[in-house]
Amino acid sequence: MKQKIFLYYLILTVIGVLITGILISEISQKYYKIELEEKLKNTAKLIQFQISENKSSGIAVDYNLLARKYADLLYPHDRSKSEEAQSNYLRVTFIDKDGKVIGESEKDYLSMDNHSTRKEVQEALQGKIGKDIRFSKDMKIDLLYIAVPMPSEGIITRVSVPLTQLKNIDEVILIYTGIGIIASLLLTTILALRFSNMIIKPVNELIEVTRGISDGNFSRRSNINFHDEIGELSSTFNTMAEKLESTLAEMTDKNMKVESIINSMLNGVVAVDSQFKIMLINTLSCEMFGIKNGPGVIGISMIELIRNNQINSLLKDTIENNVSHTAEITFGSQGDKIYRVYTTPINSNLSKQLNAGGIATIHDVTNLKKLEQIRTEFVSNVTHELKTPLTSIRGFIETLKSGAIDDKSVAVKFLDIIDIESERLSVLINDILQLSEIENKLKDSDIASHNIKNILNEIYDILEGVAAKKGVKLHFETEDSLSINANRNRIKQMLINLIDNAIKYNYENGSVNIKVYKEEGKIVFNIKDSGIGIAEEHMPRIFERFYRIDKGRSRNMGGTGLGLSIVKHIVNLYNGNIRVSSRPGYGTEFVIQLPA
Ligand SMILES: Nc1ncnc2c1ncn2[C@@H]1O[C@H](COP(=O)(O)OP(=O)(O)O)[C@@H](O)[C@H]1O
Ligand SMILES: [Mg+2]
Repeated sequence: MKQKIFLYYLILTVIGVLITGILISEISQKYYKIELEEKLKNTAKLIQFQISENKSSGIAVDYNLLARKYADLLYPHDRSKSEEAQSNYLRVTFIDKDGKVIGESEKDYLSMDNHSTRKEVQEALQGKIGKDIRFSKDMKIDLLYIAVPMPSEGIITRVSVPLTQLKNIDEVILIYTGIGIIASLLLTTILALRFSNMIIKPVNELIEVTRGISDGNFSRRSNINFHDEIGELSSTFNTMAEKLESTLAEMTDKNMKVESIINSMLNGVVAVDSQFKIMLINTLSCEMFGIKNGPGVIGISMIELIRNNQINSLLKDTIENNVSHTAEITFGSQGDKIYRVYTTPINSNLSKQLNAGGIATIHDVTNLKKLEQIRTEFVSNVTHELKTPLTSIRGFIETLKSGAIDDKSVAVKFLDIIDIESERLSVLINDILQLSEIENKLKDSDIASHNIKNILNEIYDILEGVAAKKGVKLHFETEDSLSINANRNRIKQMLINLIDNAIKYNYENGSVNIKVYKEEGKIVFNIKDSGIGIAEEHMPRIFERFYRIDKGRSRNMGGTGLGLSIVKHIVNLYNGNIRVSSRPGYGTEFVIQLPA
């Protein structure tokens, strides 16, 4: 930049100086010639005046002598030297009206040829003052000829001088032009340096500030206070930088808000552009896909990052055909997770194009699906459990109707079975009703303080018979004053279910120990039996509805498979906890803690 400005300046000045030099040379030459012409005209006229003076005084005129006299008078010179050596002289020639030379100051006029063809002579013969500039081969210089006619005498007076001064003038002008060029060179250097500093310094500063901003330092401003275009550029630049800074801050703020909203969503969200590059992804989807979230994820191809063909092809179709999709997809590290995926196209206002990208919203529906499954399983289980006794009842009734009723002993036997089966049905329906009642409750009703010992006594009365049949001994142990704040029937139901199991799944002459005590503000129920125990693999499932380890055995003893499930729901309703430990062949221990 600096060099450019300097060069332009230099070229301009040199051209200026040269043009001035040429013009001065031209003008000086012109004026020098005009001046010389005037001088020669006057000289010729002076000589002619002398001729006419002589004539009127009656003196005969010798033109040749006159020519020499005047030439010597005005420019004395040594005629013995060559013409070349005589740089400055005046030559006087007289010519008659036929072009014949009749007198000459420098040469022998008699040997000179006719002059009527010379330009200045021809002009003079027409009565004008003739003029010509011709190159002299002898002197190697231009000569100026002026011919003045003298009609009264019928002669032409021609005077000529060499234009020696022209050469000198050019030489002087050349020297001065050279000096001018050198001076302008110096001046230009100084001026160009100052001027370029004036322009380049602020421009450099602006470049510096711009670089700072592009490097992310948005608080940078230019400090140029000039009152010219550069100053205006600087202030416009500062306004622009300010706007940029505030817009950026606004955008960062908005981005942060969007990011925090998206990250706090309970659904996974992934947005990709039309090239399938990730524009946005929230923490939850990263967790779902097992990838590390971070700024590095943005811009990566979705196909590379999330290697799930189903989601990728859904999203691809959404972008390409501008349609939304919903699908249920199973994936996850163990392939045990079920997700519902919604894909919608992004129709950006900015890009005005249809397929600007797509968004996939991923919702974890694993638990929902599990619940759904449990519900359907429950319904089919209930149906099955109800069907079995009903089929049996109908079967016996049919048999009775088709004649068995006549055989009294058989009929009584059948009616007994029908009685047992309907009792089983009633127990089952009762259990199902209880379960659904507890399930739909957040908090139990009819809560009051109840003495534990009283409850245990009631239970003893109910179960004593069953236990005695099997020779199982029941031991109850509790403090007399211990009481619990709860629904009496619920607590009774819970304990009956557990003690009933402890009797049912016990050996002949086994024992069941029931201990209830208070510990750390909690009522602890401990039911320990000496029964068959529960094998390790069944432990996690015994609280499931209808789960029975030995279905036939359970049924024979009037079990529904809902007892432990009801227990667990009661414990949950009271925010308590239940724990079970068992040793197959030796016995089982259930421990329940309920808030007092
Ligand atoms: N005290 C126990 N000892 C051994 N097995 C038990 C005991 N309690 C429950 N079980 C097992 O857990 C299953 C589920 O119990 P429960 O829900 O009460 O159903 P059921 O109607 O069969 O008694 C029973 O079928 C039985 O196999
Ligand atoms: Mg039971």
